[in-house]
Amino acid sequence: MDGSSAKVVLLLIGASFSFFLLITHAHEQQAVNTTSTSFCTPQERDTLLSFKQGITNDSLGLLSSWRRGHDDCCSWTGITCSSKTGHVVKLNVNSFLTDSPMVGQISPSLLSLKYLQYLDLSTNFLAGPNGSVPEFIGSLNNLIHLDLSYIPFSGTVPLLLSNLTKLEYLDLSFTSFSGRVPPQLGNLSNLRYLDISEMQDVYSTDISWLSRLHLLEYIDMSNTTLSKITDLPLVLNDIPTLKNVILLNCSLPSANQSITHLNLTQLEELDLSLNYLGHPIASCWFWKVTSIKSLRLDDTYLHGPFPDALGDMVSLQHLHFTCNGNAATMTVDLKNLCDLESIYLDKSLSSGNITDFVDKLHCSSKLYALSLASNNMIGMLPSSMKHFTSLNYIDLTNNSVSGVMPRGFRNMTNSEYLHLSSNRLSSQMPLLPTSLKLLHAQMNILSGHLPLEFRAPNLESLIISSNYITGQVPGSIYLSWNKFYGSLPRWIGDLVTLRILYLGHNMFNGDIPVNITDLRELQYLNLADNNISGLIPLSLSHFNEMTLKAVGDSMSTLAFDESLDTFSLAMKHEILNYGSHGVVHMVGIDLSLNRLTGEIPEEITCLDGLSNLNLSWNRLSGKIPENIGSMKSIESLDLSRNYLYGKIPSSLTDFTYVSYLDLSYNNLTGEVPSGRQLDTLYIENPSMYNGNIGLCGPPLQKNCSSNSYAQEHGDHKGQEKDSNSMFFYYGLGSGFVVGYWVVFCALLFKKLWKVPYFFLVAKLHVYVVITWTRGIAKRNIRN
Ligand SMILES: *[C@@H]1O[C@H](CO)[C@@H](O)[C@H](O)[C@H]1NC(C)=O
Ligand SMILES: *[C@@H]1O[C@H](CO)[C@@H](O)[C@H](O)[C@H]1NC(C)=O
Ligand SMILES: *[C@@H]1O[C@H](CO)[C@@H](O)[C@H](O)[C@H]1NC(C)=O
Ligand SMILES: *[C@@H]1O[C@H](CO)[C@@H](O)[C@H](O)[C@H]1NC(C)=O
Ligand SMILES: *[C@@H]1O[C@H](CO)[C@@H](O)[C@H](O)[C@H]1NC(C)=O
Ligand SMILES: *[C@@H]1O[C@H](CO)[C@@H](O)[C@H](O)[C@H]1NC(C)=O
Ligand SMILES: *[C@@H]1O[C@H](CO)[C@@H](O)[C@H](O)[C@H]1NC(C)=O
Ligand SMILES: *[C@@H]1O[C@H](CO)[C@@H](O)[C@H](O)[C@H]1NC(C)=O
Ligand SMILES: *[C@@H]1O[C@H](CO)[C@@H](O)[C@H](O)[C@H]1NC(C)=O
Ligand SMILES: *[C@@H]1O[C@H](CO)[C@@H](O)[C@H](O)[C@H]1NC(C)=O
Ligand SMILES: *[C@@H]1O[C@H](CO)[C@@H](O)[C@H](O)[C@H]1NC(C)=O
Ligand SMILES: *[C@@H]1O[C@H](CO)[C@@H](O)[C@H](O)[C@H]1NC(C)=O
Repeated sequence: MDGSSAKVVLLLIGASFSFFLLITHAHEQQAVNTTSTSFCTPQERDTLLSFKQGITNDSLGLLSSWRRGHDDCCSWTGITCSSKTGHVVKLNVNSFLTDSPMVGQISPSLLSLKYLQYLDLSTNFLAGPNGSVPEFIGSLNNLIHLDLSYIPFSGTVPLLLSNLTKLEYLDLSFTSFSGRVPPQLGNLSNLRYLDISEMQDVYSTDISWLSRLHLLEYIDMSNTTLSKITDLPLVLNDIPTLKNVILLNCSLPSANQSITHLNLTQLEELDLSLNYLGHPIASCWFWKVTSIKSLRLDDTYLHGPFPDALGDMVSLQHLHFTCNGNAATMTVDLKNLCDLESIYLDKSLSSGNITDFVDKLHCSSKLYALSLASNNMIGMLPSSMKHFTSLNYIDLTNNSVSGVMPRGFRNMTNSEYLHLSSNRLSSQMPLLPTSLKLLHAQMNILSGHLPLEFRAPNLESLIISSNYITGQVPGSIYLSWNKFYGSLPRWIGDLVTLRILYLGHNMFNGDIPVNITDLRELQYLNLADNNISGLIPLSLSHFNEMTLKAVGDSMSTLAFDESLDTFSLAMKHEILNYGSHGVVHMVGIDLSLNRLTGEIPEEITCLDGLSNLNLSWNRLSGKIPENIGSMKSIESLDLSRNYLYGKIPSSLTDFTYVSYLDLSYNNLTGEVPSGRQLDTLYIENPSMYNGNIGLCGPPLQKNCSSNSYAQEHGDHKGQEKDSNSMFFYYGLGSGFVVGYWVVFCALLFKKLWKVPYFFLVAKLHVYVVITWTRGIAKRNIRN
């Protein structure tokens, strides 16, 4: 996702928000007594039909109900009529929530809708061939609500709009107008909402006309050049009704005017971001406006200490002051700001003490986001941090925060995103809140053991590289149901104490490293539902702990310590699939849902302690190992959905504990072996041989004629070739789009002073979504 498209989406979201708010608002205020049960006049119907003729492309059929034979135009999509007079009073055909705008031009016939009060044509390509606003719009003088936003009109902002003196709502944002903002807009004395933001090259050198809009509540002039305007606060102060003032990227020269008598008692939102103000923060005019709920001052390069007056802004919910050049300080006591929900001060403070900072926030039980990245902050995370139970997003990246992570950290049950990298956090990794989705704590001096279990089932991105984490590797590295990918590391064989390796449901690719068979203690190996290809390693017999002898001895060690709880809970899904065996019998190998090729190694039959073997949904070929019956402990065997061929080995009848068997959808041939156990299994699961055309004999319907058997048996070499080329094409077709993913995590296990890196990878879009969420909250239009 490149910067510009991200920006567009952001702006769209921002705009849609105010759009819906205001529509509801304006609609309530005008109190039009409307209904759709009345009948429209034939004249107005014809007018609308000729409006429809101006539309050359309505690919979603928004206007499909507008047709003859369906004559009551009051019931057409987007039309509202007055219940008193029956006249059309509202025409709303915006394409805001669709991705297919209507194309065409606005027919002058609309002029016949003399009673029209509400016109919304926004987000359609209705600028016509020459891009100018049709002049007749200036004659629709009953209009109360006019929305032409996102229509690519060009030229200067039309003077004729100033004729519409009943207007309460005017939105021209994201059009392509340029030139001077006409002061005649000051004639629209009923305006409550004015959005003329994000047009092309628009400027104003005198904004005194604004103060004639004495009912104005909402003004957005973002991206209008106001570089000559030095009396902004004085003009605003003449409009006591103002609630929202949004002036992003307006080249405003300063905000250090003083106001003697403040009339702005209703102001709730003030956004002056992206204006290079460059003077002391304390000299700004707005600190006295205690009604402000949202104050955004990103990229303003204000500097110096925040004034104590900030501590009296008791309505404040959002304070955004990022990217201001690290020349500000914040020691204000915020104990009275009990409504604070977000604080973003990244890249803005010259120094600070996190202990003090957090302690001065102690009223903020609603705090949701605390972001203080790159602020040269020292001190330790205070234990009072745990009282911020709503805190969801914490970013302390690139400071000098030291000490241990607070003990109550696990109790912060709403936290999902925790950025702590590049600090001086030491001591052990704490237990994580179970809600956590992202933990980035690389480049600290964390040491000691990893927690035995991460206990963060929602974790999507974990980076703890470049620390001093030493000592014992956890008994199991349960990291499944993540978005990790990359190839399985060769050094995995070094984790000789590992008993459970559960990396299922990730996006690992590459092959299974032979080194995995160095894990002599391994009892449970699950790599299911990844993208793993290549062969099953031959030396599987090295898995000592999966043999009958070892399983007999190690039952007690399988009754883990406290980690058992977490593990068995996390495994519920699988346990259910395996019936009632529970964790105790969990000696198993699950490689299902991958792209493994080649044969099932004969050596696997040495693992006579194995109770579950699942190799289904791969591309395994060759024959089922003749000796498979020697896997005496097998309870569940699933080889379905592969390309296995040849006879089903008769040793299968040696199984004594088997309660589940599935060989369906292979290319097995010949006579089905019979035996009491197999017959019972077949009754329970009659599809276990499905999709093997060559199988015959009871319990199947098909009789075995020796002829067809021989033919099919002799044919398997050619078939193998075919299916191999089939894999190849399939692989191309379903190929993993690597470009969509990005490597950004590294998990370090430092063991015995060796430094192996475990590259884990998370989905790019997870990362982007985080950035966007934050961006929207910040109204940050830069990325
Ligand atoms: C709307 O019109 C109906 C029918 O003319 C009338 O009964 C009702 O009182 C009106 N409502 C308002 C809020 O004016
Ligand atoms: C009409 O618009 C849709 C989507 O906006 C587009 O796919 C289609 O090609 C257009 N049709 C014509 C005739 O231009
Ligand atoms: C633009 O087109 C309209 C008709 O579509 C026409 O009335 C108007 O004069 C044109 N304006 C210019 C500047 O060419
Ligand atoms: C402005 O409105 C007046 C009546 O209110 C009308 O006579 C005039 O034609 C309108 N001007 C334009 C440019 O539509
Ligand atoms: C609109 O405002 C201008 C001054 O900006 C004024 O000269 C003009 O008479 C006003 N027009 C109307 C119709 O009020
Ligand atoms: C903001 O204005 C500049 C020119 O001043 C223009 O290039 C840019 O496209 C405008 N931004 C938007 C989002 O319209
Ligand atoms: C606002 O305050 C100023 C003093 O700065 C005063 O002169 C003016 O009359 C007030 N305006 C309104 C609309 O209340
Ligand atoms: C800010 O305005 C300048 C022109 O004044 C424009 O070039 C730039 O693209 C704008 N920035 C954003 C983020 O819209
Ligand atoms: C940070 O502030 C706390 C509380 O005032 C103080 O105890 C601590 O020494 C400060 N830390 C540093 C590194 O100055
Ligand atoms: C975390 O919460 C639990 C239960 O609510 C409580 O027993 C425990 O003391 C808390 N831990 C800390 C460090 O606050
Ligand atoms: C992996 O196994 C191969 C062959 O046994 C060995 O040469 C190699 O050193 C092992 N790699 C690691 C990182 O242990
Ligand atoms: C199964 O074998 C037959 C003949 O041996 C062959 O024609 C067919 O393509 C094979 N099917 C698959 C799915 O491998």
